[in-house]
Amino acid sequence: MDQAESLRQLVRSKRGSKQAPKEEDTREDYGHYTTTKVITVASGKGGVGKSNFTVNLAIELSKMGNRVMILDADLGLANVDIIMGINPKFNLTHLIKEEKDIKDIITETEYGVKLIASGSGVKELVNMSNQQREKFILKLSEIEDMVDILLIDTGAGISKNTLSFIYAADYTIVITTPEPTALMDAYGLIKVASSGKKSVALKLVVNMVSSKDEAKEIASRVILLSRRFLNIFVESYGYIYRDRSVLNSVMAQKPFAAMFPDSRATACVREIAKKVSARFVKENEKLIEQETPEATGIGGVFKKVFDLFTK
Ligand SMILES: Nc1ncnc2c1ncn2[C@@H]1O[C@H](COP(=O)(O)OP(=O)(O)OP(=O)(O)O)[C@@H](O)[C@H]1O
Ligand SMILES: [Mg+2]
Repeated sequence: MDQAESLRQLVRSKRGSKQAPKEEDTREDYGHYTTTKVITVASGKGGVGKSNFTVNLAIELSKMGNRVMILDADLGLANVDIIMGINPKFNLTHLIKEEKDIKDIITETEYGVKLIASGSGVKELVNMSNQQREKFILKLSEIEDMVDILLIDTGAGISKNTLSFIYAADYTIVITTPEPTALMDAYGLIKVASSGKKSVALKLVVNMVSSKDEAKEIASRVILLSRRFLNIFVESYGYIYRDRSVLNSVMAQKPFAAMFPDSRATACVREIAKKVSARFVKENEKLIEQETPEATGIGGVFKKVFDLFTK
């Protein structure tokens, strides 16, 4: 049996072993029934708030009862760990080099969210042999049962790495600010992401706004441009106020959702988390009705990432 077949068998047996939910099942039983939802967070311009959004969205999703993991895929410039004020001992590099097992590189945080930290050697993803790659995917599939939602924080710009994660995810949240430069770069990212052969699902979050009206106006501009010139529907997913508590929390190395739970920024992220969570439950219900679920989960996602790397 080759590696690919063993991967398929693993996925099949995982699915087969799960019981269909019963009426008395709680929302949590539902949530844990199907494979992991994978959401990538990306932007055109740098410094628009991706990492802060990812961390605080993860915390809010976790408060709602979801089991959440962050994968820091900002290769080389990882800073999710800094925002969370933690110092992970092991990261993706150790897994790739087979020095550590998947369970060893998962950092538990005090915020109820798990983190797979990035590492400077992660560029090796591109240089792995086929056999190494299959092994790596198999290892990642092992965390399937531990996680409901995997959030992937990416680096700014349109790198091959980021595009791979956009194509592989269930959907991508594009972050922009109202600045014309950030908007142009967000549009540029949407253009490149939607010009590939694969279909992509894109959502938009406008960060650092001063009013709801400003957020609305900015979002509708991006959505209209994308529809008119790229023929792609980008869905508005919310906005976050420019809020000093974000800066203060970064300085304190404590996420604002934890440090300032009553801040305007936290309230905005909570609204987005509600949307993400509701969608997750609804899609799971749909999957449960299907005889053969089409969700790909973590193993499938990384397989797609690698397929793109090698093409
Ligand atoms: N809603 C907000 N209100 C005020 N300041 C914010 C807000 N969001 C982000 N910032 C500021 O922007 C800075 C950059 O945020 P962050 O590191 O999350 O951006 P990024 O998009 O991940 O950057 P990079 O592209 O370098 O990865 C933060 O340190 C903070 O000072
Ligand atoms: Mg970042």
